[in-house]
Amino acid sequence: MAAVGGQLDAKGIEAALTGLIGQGGPVQVRQEVGSTNDLVRELALSGAPDWTLVAAERQTVGRGRRGRDWASPAGLNLYASVLTAEVGDHQLVPCLPLVAAVAVAEALSAMGAKVALKWPNDLLAPDFSKLGGILVESGAGSPGRWVVGVGVNVNASPDDLPAGATSLRIQSGAPWDRNQLAARVIASLRTAWETLAREGFAPIQKGWLDYACWLGHQIVVTGDAGHWNGRMAGIDPWGRLRVATPEGERRFSAGDVSLRPADGVG
Ligand code: BTN
Repeated sequence: MAAVGGQLDAKGIEAALTGLIGQGGPVQVRQEVGSTNDLVRELALSGAPDWTLVAAERQTVGRGRRGRDWASPAGLNLYASVLTAEVGDHQLVPCLPLVAAVAVAEALSAMGAKVALKWPNDLLAPDFSKLGGILVESGAGSPGRWVVGVGVNVNASPDDLPAGATSLRIQSGAPWDRNQLAARVIASLRTAWETLAREGFAPIQKGWLDYACWLGHQIVVTGDAGHWNGRMAGIDPWGRLRVATPEGERRFSAGDVSLRPADGVG
């Protein structure tokens, strides 16, 4: 396998994590898996500790939100899942996809990428093409723990990617070190989880809005029950999308709807 920018390497990720946060959880790198989220879920069932991380060179059945496939070509991108520490307050559960999104956006920004967030947790480039996404699922058998799956298009070229997607390498013109990136992402997720446990969603809500696409702009929200036009007014304390429509403000939960700008850009 010709890995652009170097192979994934558990020792390299562990060393980078130690440099960032002292000591990380166990790290596994696999050449090929079905989905890293499924593997971490299995590890959770057999008693894996918090912050166990699995990263893979390739996924055969990588999946995205709302039942979509996640293109996972070999040796190019980041496909990683981590088992979080327990989230004690159940009211915070709907916020978790947004918490993870801010954490990943901060990690990428710290490495020099320009990134924006499309509600609830799509990672976009400045031209609104898709850089990555996050899939938060329950860590079965571990009540309160969650599997956070992160997919970032890192070193892929346009031919490797579906329409509308981009990569860090396409955006910056140079290859990226995926071990450093994985470590930054995991360190940032841990920090975000600690902030959530200590201070709740409020500071993270503010951070999410700093990265938000189309805030204050006209958007179209589409779901099974129809579509709604309005101005994107922000997110509420539970991470729901707030849209100011001519009939008043509507709030939408992640998973129910998708959104796009009304002028068709993005
Ligand atoms: C989305 O934007 O729809 C979310 C994409 C999440 C993809 C990642 S790749 C690592 C982990 N394993 C999966 O099967 N999915 C997530």
